[in-house]
Amino acid sequence: MQNNLQIGLIGLGNVGLQVAKELVNNKDLENHFSLKSILVRNVNKYNKIIDNDPEFLGNSSMIKNLLTENPKDFFKGNFDVVVELIGGLNPAKEYVKTALLEKKHVVTANKELIANHFSELIKIAKSNKMKLRFEGSVGAGIPVIEVLTDMLKQNSISRITGIINGTSNYILSSMFDYSADFSKVLLEAQKLGFAESDPTDDIDGHDAKYKIDILGSIAFGGEIPLNNVSVKGIRDISLKDISHAKNFGYTIKLLAITERNANLISSRVSPALIPLSHPLANVNENYNAIEIVGNLVGNLWIQGEGAGKKSTASAILGDLMGIYNSSSGDVELSEGSLDFIDDLEIKSKNYLRLSVSDEFGVLAKIAGIFSNNKISIASVMQNDPKDLTGGVDLVIMTHASPEKYFIKAIEQIESLSIVRNKPISIRIHE
Ligand code: HSE
Repeated sequence: MQNNLQIGLIGLGNVGLQVAKELVNNKDLENHFSLKSILVRNVNKYNKIIDNDPEFLGNSSMIKNLLTENPKDFFKGNFDVVVELIGGLNPAKEYVKTALLEKKHVVTANKELIANHFSELIKIAKSNKMKLRFEGSVGAGIPVIEVLTDMLKQNSISRITGIINGTSNYILSSMFDYSADFSKVLLEAQKLGFAESDPTDDIDGHDAKYKIDILGSIAFGGEIPLNNVSVKGIRDISLKDISHAKNFGYTIKLLAITERNANLISSRVSPALIPLSHPLANVNENYNAIEIVGNLVGNLWIQGEGAGKKSTASAILGDLMGIYNSSSGDVELSEGSLDFIDDLEIKSKNYLRLSVSDEFGVLAKIAGIFSNNKISIASVMQNDPKDLTGGVDLVIMTHASPEKYFIKAIEQIESLSIVRNKPISIRIHE
């Protein structure tokens, strides 16, 4: 039988604690892995956390003896694998590089690190003949990365579409189902442990940007620079938009898309209206779903709990098992460079909500701007009740046009004196 893999763990936050518990409490895992050392910022803090955590069963003292605050001491450990779970770029990048250069495999769930330094880290791992696995960085326990690196390796992937931020999905689906207020639902998501304590990255789309960047970089065989991913979050979505969307037969989701058309790659994160009959419309709460389109596999759907400590720990343990079994999980970087197209060139249908003065000629002015920008209107709805500014809601759905035309039209519409709000626009995904 193969020897146990010796593990050094960096970070004992929610996910780190869960991984440590699984490694020491689960008898099956004992046959494969030995946790040897844990690097944390503050040993006293974690001594207390471990003492107060009944789930360590009888292993508290053993775990406390593994803690160290000293990175130099930690890296002297004779590990086979370093598991990095501190998140952020620094010092995570230095730790991951050090581990790979010292011939230790690395498992990480750090999406920001992988998205920012994709090619560099993969090349370092490869040249040192070490594994760098990061299944937990996208969709927590959903095994999407290994599906792309291994099972779909022989496919040419044309598009990946995902709901890949659990916090935004929880907020949007609670607003839809219970007409719940944005900020109240956000607090709940934080209590449940899947929204970050600083939720900016979740609700402004950056968390999803890192994740779709990683998926696209694997699928298309090269690093997609993060500034090639356009990003819009859900901060401006109000209950009004949810309710208008419902009346038109849609829901609103934060969608991340990376696609390749005629060899040009475009990637974006943005809220989108999705028909209620679409499979993604029924992915709710903190669930994530990813659709992969490949030339051989067709349309493949993977869905599961995309956020949370247990689900992420599942991915970490899966990666460890992959290393134990010497399974591939390797990202193939292609020789040539990738070509990109600005997301503003991509065509889509759009939803627009305006608060306008209720007087003659309003619709004609707005329709004129759309017409001048070569955008065709698909439907118009005006709500009679006046809002606090004395305006009425005007909702317009357009036919597909390049996003850059739509944005130009909105800028012109916003400057009209009859428009009383900051126009709210949302792409329509069908
Ligand atoms: N905060 C993330 C989410 C989970 O809400 O999906 C970690 O990636």
